[in-house]
Amino acid sequence: MKKILDLISEQVAAAFVQAGYDETYGKVSISNRPDLCEYQCNGAMAAAKRYHKAPIMIAGDVVAVLKENDIFEQADAAAPGFINIKVSPAFVSDYLKEMSVSEKFGLEPVKEPRTIMIDYGGPNVAKPLHVGHLRSAIIGESIKRLGRYVGHRMIGDVHLGDWGLQMGLIITELRRRRPQLVYFDPDYEGEYPKEAPFTISELEEIYPAASAYSKEHPDYKEEAMQATYELQHGRRGYQALLSHILNVSVTDLKRNYRNLNVDFDLWKGESDAQPYIPEMVQYMKDEGYAYISDGALVVDVKEETDTKEIPPCMILKSDGASLYNTTDLATIVWRMRDYHPDELIYVVDKRQELYFTQVFRCARKTKLVDEDTKLTFLGFGTMNGKDGKPFKTREGGVMRLEKLIDGINEEMYRKIVENHEADPEEARQTAKIVGLSAIKYGDLSNQASKDYIFDIDRFTSFEGNTGPYILYTIVRIKSILNKYRENGGQTQDCVIRPAQSASEKALMLQLARFNGVMENAFEEIAPHKVCSYIYDLANEFNHFYHETKILTQEDEEKKRGYIALLMLAKGVLEDCIDVLGFSAPDRM
Ligand code: ARG
Repeated sequence: MKKILDLISEQVAAAFVQAGYDETYGKVSISNRPDLCEYQCNGAMAAAKRYHKAPIMIAGDVVAVLKENDIFEQADAAAPGFINIKVSPAFVSDYLKEMSVSEKFGLEPVKEPRTIMIDYGGPNVAKPLHVGHLRSAIIGESIKRLGRYVGHRMIGDVHLGDWGLQMGLIITELRRRRPQLVYFDPDYEGEYPKEAPFTISELEEIYPAASAYSKEHPDYKEEAMQATYELQHGRRGYQALLSHILNVSVTDLKRNYRNLNVDFDLWKGESDAQPYIPEMVQYMKDEGYAYISDGALVVDVKEETDTKEIPPCMILKSDGASLYNTTDLATIVWRMRDYHPDELIYVVDKRQELYFTQVFRCARKTKLVDEDTKLTFLGFGTMNGKDGKPFKTREGGVMRLEKLIDGINEEMYRKIVENHEADPEEARQTAKIVGLSAIKYGDLSNQASKDYIFDIDRFTSFEGNTGPYILYTIVRIKSILNKYRENGGQTQDCVIRPAQSASEKALMLQLARFNGVMENAFEEIAPHKVCSYIYDLANEFNHFYHETKILTQEDEEKKRGYIALLMLAKGVLEDCIDVLGFSAPDRM
């Protein structure tokens, strides 16, 4: 379906032509004076220069034509030359009728679907998920869903941090605690046990212990570095341990992400990129991109127009070891080879921006990506506590993700049972669903690049710009529709009718914006635009609800019109929250 703004613009452009002016002046936007009109066209002001005529005269000429067109209820010329418009209720209801029966409520799939790989999540194996990883998961998931919704091929990759010193530390600590394990016997040639020699809680305890210990004990750290080296150079026992660590950790990560309604198409990690490194390095040397500087292998990435210093991208350290960069570049190699993406999007903490500038420039300069492959860094800000500092536990430690979610769910549970009598089991379930909306909406409603304050009280409130408020609105609609059905009402043949009140029309106009909002939100990679759309939509709905007798409406035709409108509002809201990565309960 065409966007409603385009439909209106077409009519206004035609009116400009009919009045003797160029059609390019007919662009219409949503009014920024909703007290005066619904849409406005500012073209007369621009046309004034060309036609050497007062803008108000031009606006008057156009308005005279618009008044003859029955899609407009009202058209006025206002000083100095605005054209203020209200559309007719029948025009809007016809538009919504078509939306109701259209796939994705009239959002047309993109003409040229692109393959877009999105790198998000980025958890580190064997280290517990912390709130820093939450934002990447939430934002990345919603961008992936939004992209799919508008019709692109989106491939999400978790890009596990599974390569580096943390593995050596775990191995070293395990050897210190249980040296008799077969994995440490260098002469062992048999098969290694299928069962991991630790559980996830042991694993999660081992890493921080080893990490803290290594900071105080250089010998221990040396040992861990040696273990990392041996692991990376093929020591069998260590590789067997690595796959145990990966299995145990990934199983736990999958459970955590499932609770967050986040799911990845690919569970690749840094380790998967390692096999591509030697060939990539050789190629960079052969083509003359990489050279030795102070013993290290580097590629220059600075550009003439730089206003600040962009250091060279280091490919290998002087001891020949690879780095975080090297892994990211080698990851680009397999992503291009296996998936030929048109774009790679990275959803990572904005503090890594300079790093990604180096990686992207290096990938482009060395032609690891095609000329037209887009590389996008979406850096997100920090999640702070109410004190404005990075979110911490009460004791000042790093807040674990599970703790944070439990806290929200507990608060949600309290609010739900306070609200109405509920079966405790059901209330717990509902609290989880609503709690997730509180967390996700609280995050996504901010522009991703900005820091934000994680405020449990505000996020879990049923009022204001919050996830629970949106869900509350959906639940309200569901419950009206259920009551209607329980009383024998049929929903199939209900048809939206022209609005009869201002609040009904405002709701309808807001619904009609849907396809335009979704398209624009993806173009700008801005899930917060979906949030602000549904917040406005929920407000318009609640306004309409408070002013309108719906189920007690005597006029059966009218009532059925309302029901059809409610069904559309529910559908649109549900699709939007699905794109944001959460869902609504039936009751709350
Ligand atoms: N594991 C990294 C971290 O915890 C994030 C990975 C981001 N993605 C990437 N391709 N480098 O900071």
